[in-house]
Amino acid sequence: MLTNIDINKMNQLMEENKDAKKIITQLLENHHTAVSVIAHEIRNPLTLVSSSLQVMEAQHPEVKDFYNWKQTMEDIRFMCSLLNELSDFSSGSSLRYSVFSIGRLLKNIAVSFAISLDAEDSDIRFSSRISPEMGDFTGDKTKLEEVILNLLKNAKDAVKKNGSIFLSADRENSQIIIRCTDDGCGIPADDIDKIFDPFFTGKDNGTGLGLPLSRKIVEAHGGTITALSSPASETVFTVTLPV
Ligand SMILES: Nc1ncnc2c1ncn2[C@@H]1O[C@H](COP(=O)(O)OP(=O)(O)O)[C@@H](O)[C@H]1O
Ligand SMILES: [Mg+2]
Repeated sequence: MLTNIDINKMNQLMEENKDAKKIITQLLENHHTAVSVIAHEIRNPLTLVSSSLQVMEAQHPEVKDFYNWKQTMEDIRFMCSLLNELSDFSSGSSLRYSVFSIGRLLKNIAVSFAISLDAEDSDIRFSSRISPEMGDFTGDKTKLEEVILNLLKNAKDAVKKNGSIFLSADRENSQIIIRCTDDGCGIPADDIDKIFDPFFTGKDNGTGLGLPLSRKIVEAHGGTITALSSPASETVFTVTLPV
């Protein structure tokens, strides 16, 4: 894995030498394509295995009593989501631009999230305050939606069953500022520098790719994403996007 020092050296090399820039950019592109292709190729047969097991389960419900059946199904679901996230992670920096109302996008996400909590009969209290005056934004709508969903999903995991999550968005001068706040388990001080590292997870079934992917997407938009947490009090993720 490349460290920040390696990345700085690579950036310096690219700035100093045009040929090096061309070769490194090409190598990075090849690397991302290879990861996406491998993830895709493994996901296809895995989806077939998953479908076959679901058909088996529907036709022979008694298999659910088999030792380890439930665990096997969960493991397969986990592998599928890991491969999806790996492939998304690899293509995180390539954006498909469009012009859209960021306020409307965030409101829609907030409504869907509230509905999903309702559907699960969850006791989590969720509220949002999205400024109506954020105007149009040029960026990758689908990828930004993914960022916000990642933050809300993490907040939901952190508050477990009972707690509060708050999503806010404002425009300040030439910046959109989005905050996701929760009063869940918090992030230990020792971990706060690691949470954006690929594969760092504090969860049994976590992939550790949600936050690094989110950072990649936000930085590709020229923005920043940061976390502040005081365990046993509040955790705030702040996304800033230049308009
Ligand atoms: N709101 C939060 N509260 C507490 N811990 C968090 C929060 N968001 C992220 N984390 C920590 O950061 C880790 C990495 O998050 P992420 O990259 O989304 O991967 P994953 O959710 O698959 O573990 C999580 O496993 C968790 O330990
Ligand atoms: Mg996550």
